[in-house]
Amino acid sequence: MIRVSPGNELTVRLTVNEAGHTLRVDPREPLSDVLRHRLGLTGTHVGCEQGVCGCCTILFDGEPARACLVLAVQADGHEIRTVESLTQPDGGLHPLQEAFGRHHALQCGFCTPGQLMNALALLPRAASMSDDDLRGAISGQLCRCTGYTPIVDAIRTAAGDLT
Ligand code: FES
Ligand code: FES
Repeated sequence: MIRVSPGNELTVRLTVNEAGHTLRVDPREPLSDVLRHRLGLTGTHVGCEQGVCGCCTILFDGEPARACLVLAVQADGHEIRTVESLTQPDGGLHPLQEAFGRHHALQCGFCTPGQLMNALALLPRAASMSDDDLRGAISGQLCRCTGYTPIVDAIRTAAGDLT
């Protein structure tokens, strides 16, 4: 339940990477700002702030969402997963991250957190997707320096590693 606080701030309760948080937020505050500036989860990158580039993609109740287009108040009572959650219990990389490295699927890395979170949601069905379908599924994640073939290869490799 959202509670109104003095100063027109709202109190929201959300779960981020399995940790519960109660925060007072401005009604217009994007979730991307809350993740980065309040919770210190700067792995969620912000590029366009208009829902175009996909750099800020997180999982919202398991589905990819653009954190710059989600208001923090809309996340009340929901489960958020950011790129930081990919770190394995021993501090190692997630198989998807290893596959990105193996296939050189990143250069500057700015788009990579969003690519990884979108790809994470695709993994359960990636092995059975055609190349065209897989390319279509990542077409909203813009990358201006790597190109998309290595990213598709990395997703396919990780999907194979995990099956
Ligand atoms: S910063 Fe959110 S889509 Fe570009
Ligand atoms: S790796 Fe540079 S924008 Fe994608």
